Amino acid sequence: MKTSRLVLLIAIIAAVVSCGQRKSDVDTRVENILRQMTLSEKIGQMNQISVGGEVSNYAGAIRDGQVGSILNEVDPVKVNEYQRLAVEESRLGIPLLVARDVIHGFHTIFPIPLGLAATFDPQLVEEGARVAALEATAQGVRWTFSPMLDIARDPRWGRIAEGSGEDPYLDARMAEAMVYGYQGRTADSTSMAACIKHFVGYGAAEGGRDYNSTLIPEHLLRNVYLPPFEAAVKAGAMTLMTSFNDNDGIPSTGNKYVVKDILRGEWGFDGLVVTDWNSMGEMINHGFAADRPEAVKKAVAAGVDMDMMTYGFIGHLEEMVRRGEVKESQIDAAVRDVLRVKVKLGLFEHPYINIEEGAAVQYAPEHLAAAHKSAEESAILLKNDGVLPLKDGLRILVTGPMADAPHDQLGTWTFDGEKSHTVTPLKALEERFPGKVIYVPGLAYSRQERDNFSDVVAAARRADVVLAFLGEEAILSGEAHSLADLNLIGSQSELLKALKATGKPVVATVMAGRPLTIERDLENCSAMLYSFHPGTMGGPALANLLAGDVNPSGKAPVTFLRTVGQAPMYYNHNMTGRPYSGELLMKDIPLEAGQTSLGNTSYYLDYGAYPLFPFGFGLSYTTFSYSNIGLDKEEYKANDTISVTFTLANTGSREGTEVAQVYVRDLVGSIARPVKELKAFERVSLAAGESRTITIGIPVSSLAFYGLDGKYGVEPGSFQLWVAGDSASGEPVEFEVL
Ligand code: BGC
Repeated sequence: MKTSRLVLLIAIIAAVVSCGQRKSDVDTRVENILRQMTLSEKIGQMNQISVGGEVSNYAGAIRDGQVGSILNEVDPVKVNEYQRLAVEESRLGIPLLVARDVIHGFHTIFPIPLGLAATFDPQLVEEGARVAALEATAQGVRWTFSPMLDIARDPRWGRIAEGSGEDPYLDARMAEAMVYGYQGRTADSTSMAACIKHFVGYGAAEGGRDYNSTLIPEHLLRNVYLPPFEAAVKAGAMTLMTSFNDNDGIPSTGNKYVVKDILRGEWGFDGLVVTDWNSMGEMINHGFAADRPEAVKKAVAAGVDMDMMTYGFIGHLEEMVRRGEVKESQIDAAVRDVLRVKVKLGLFEHPYINIEEGAAVQYAPEHLAAAHKSAEESAILLKNDGVLPLKDGLRILVTGPMADAPHDQLGTWTFDGEKSHTVTPLKALEERFPGKVIYVPGLAYSRQERDNFSDVVAAARRADVVLAFLGEEAILSGEAHSLADLNLIGSQSELLKALKATGKPVVATVMAGRPLTIERDLENCSAMLYSFHPGTMGGPALANLLAGDVNPSGKAPVTFLRTVGQAPMYYNHNMTGRPYSGELLMKDIPLEAGQTSLGNTSYYLDYGAYPLFPFGFGLSYTTFSYSNIGLDKEEYKANDTISVTFTLANTGSREGTEVAQVYVRDLVGSIARPVKELKAFERVSLAAGESRTITIGIPVSSLAFYGLDGKYGVEPGSFQLWVAGDSASGEPVEFEVL
C-alpha cells in the first residue's frame, strides 16, 4: 500500500467510522483528506461524468483522481469495478459517488411524482422513496437526482409529471418525505443521497416550453418557489441541482444570489451543489458567458461544487487557479462539500456492493405491495354517475391504448423499470373477473388515428360495461416534452364518443403525465378515474379501484383546466382588483353591444372563470360532510397554534378515506396575498356512517410570508380559514392575528 493511502486510512480509522457520524467527526475526516490532495485531485472531485460502454474507457481518468462522480451506470459488476479503480488504484483512494435518475422507483416503479402527490400521503411517499433507495443502493447507486421540487402551474410543461404540482405546502411535505425516504431516517449503506432540483424556478418556464426563461419576481420566488427547497434542506437533503432556466436574465448555474446568498447563506446548506447536465456550458448559449472559462468562473463564484457534463472544471479550473482568477480556497470549499457527502454516506467504509444480495432485493414482494398501494391512493375519481364500483357478474369490454401498455404505464424517467414486470389493467382485470373480460384495443397507442371503430363498437354491444383506458404514452410527458394542445391525442376522444353512442355505461381511466383537458371526454363517459402514469403495479391497483375492493381517495395536486388557453390557472393566485363575480359569457352578449367597463371582472368570455376541477378535488364511492368547523380562539398571538376542530362524517354506505384540507386567506397584507393557501391536510379513514371530530393544529408562524419590506413574518390582521374536501368548497371561519 502506498504511504499516502496508508495515511488516509489511518486518518479515517482515527476518526469515527460508520455512517451517521456527528458533524464534527465528518468535518475532521474531510479536512484530513483535503489536506493530502493536490489541486488537480481536488478539481477531479468536482467533476461528474456520464459513463457507458467499457469501464476501461474511463479507467485512466479515475485512477488519476480526475472523476468525483459518475452517472448512468447501474450494472453492479461495472459499478464495483469503477469503485475498485477509485478506491484501490487512485492515489488517495477516494470512492466515487455513483448517481442515477431514480425518480419514482428504481426497478419497482411507483406512480409518477405528480401521482404520488395526489395521494396526499407523505408517509406512503416516504415508504416508496425508501423502496427506491433499497433497490438502487443494492446495485451501487448512492445518489439520486430526485426529488424535483419545481412548482408547476402550467400543464403544457412536460416536466409537471416529475413534481408535486402547483402548491408549495403540498410540495414541501412531499419533498421532506422523499428526502427521508431516499436518505433513510438514519444513515446506513442503504442511504441514497437526495438531490433537490432544479434550483430554482424551472417549472415557471414561459408558455410551458421546457428550458425557457422564467420571470419570477422576488416575492413570488420567496413565497412560492423557494419554500419546498427550504423544507427539503431542513429535512437534511444532502445535495441540490441548479436549473437550466435563466430567471430575469440570470441562469441559475451562475446565480450567486440564489445559490450562495439564499441557499448557503440564509439556509446554511452545507451539502453539494451540482449543475444540471451541461447547464454550466449552456450559460454560453444563454449569452451569459462568452466562453467556457467565463462560465466556469461564474459557476464557481455562484457556489457550484460539481460540474455535470460540461467538462468545464476539469478543463479550466487548474489553470484559472494558477493565474489567480479563482482562489484555491473556493476549490477547497467545493471539495469539502463533495467529500462530506461521501463520508456521510459511509462510502469510504462500504464502497462495494454484494451483487447476489443486491439482485435479491429487486422487485421484492413488499416493494411491489408499496407500489400497488401508492397507485391505489394516487388515482383520482373525477366523475361517477353510479356505474362504479363495478357490480359482479358483468361482461366487461376492456379497450383503449393504455389497457395493455406495459411500457407506457410506467411513465417518464424510468431508466431501470422493466416492462416485463409491469402488470397492466388488462392482465389484472382478467384475473379479477375471470371469464368476463373481452379485450379489443381499438387503438394500439395513444397517438394513433382511426376513423372507424366498428370492431370496438360491436364488442361493446356484447358487453354490459365498457372500461376504456386512455391517456398519453410515457414519452409524451417529461423533459423537453411540452405540449401546446392538452386534449386526448390521436382518435381517443372519438373512440370514447363511439362507445358512448352504444348506450352502454362507459368508464374512462386516464393514464397521463399531466392533467389533460378532458372536459369533452367527461361528457362521453359515465365515470372517470384519473390515474396519471401509475407504475409497475398500476394494473392491479386500478382493478381494485374499479371493482370497489378499494375506494378511491386521490386528490388533484394540480388544477385541471377546461381548455389549454386557461393556462396558467391555479387555485392560489393573488387576490385581484376585480374578482370574478359572474359576468356575461360570449353566448349571452347581445349583438352590437356597447363597450362598457362597468362590472367587468377577471374571466374568459368563452370559458368563464373556473377550471374543470379545482386543486384538491377528488370523489369517493362514499360521501363526506364537514360540520362544526370551529377554532379554539378568535384572536391569536404570533407564537400561538390555531386549533382547528371539525366533524367529518362518512355519509355514504361504504368505508372511505377523505383528505381533509385546511386553507387560509390573509385578508390584508403589505403585498396582495393569495385568495387561499393550503396550510394543512389529513387523510382520514371512516367506516360507513361513522363521524369523527378532528383537531388540526396550525402554527400561526406558518402564516408568515415575505412582505413589502422583504422581511419574513406574520402580519397582524384578519384571516379566513376553510376546512373542506377541495380548494373550492366550504364556508370560511374568521380569526385575527394580533
Ligand atoms: C435533467 C435532470 C437530470 C439530469 C441527469 C437533465 O437533463 O434536467 O433533471 O437529473 O439530466 O440525467
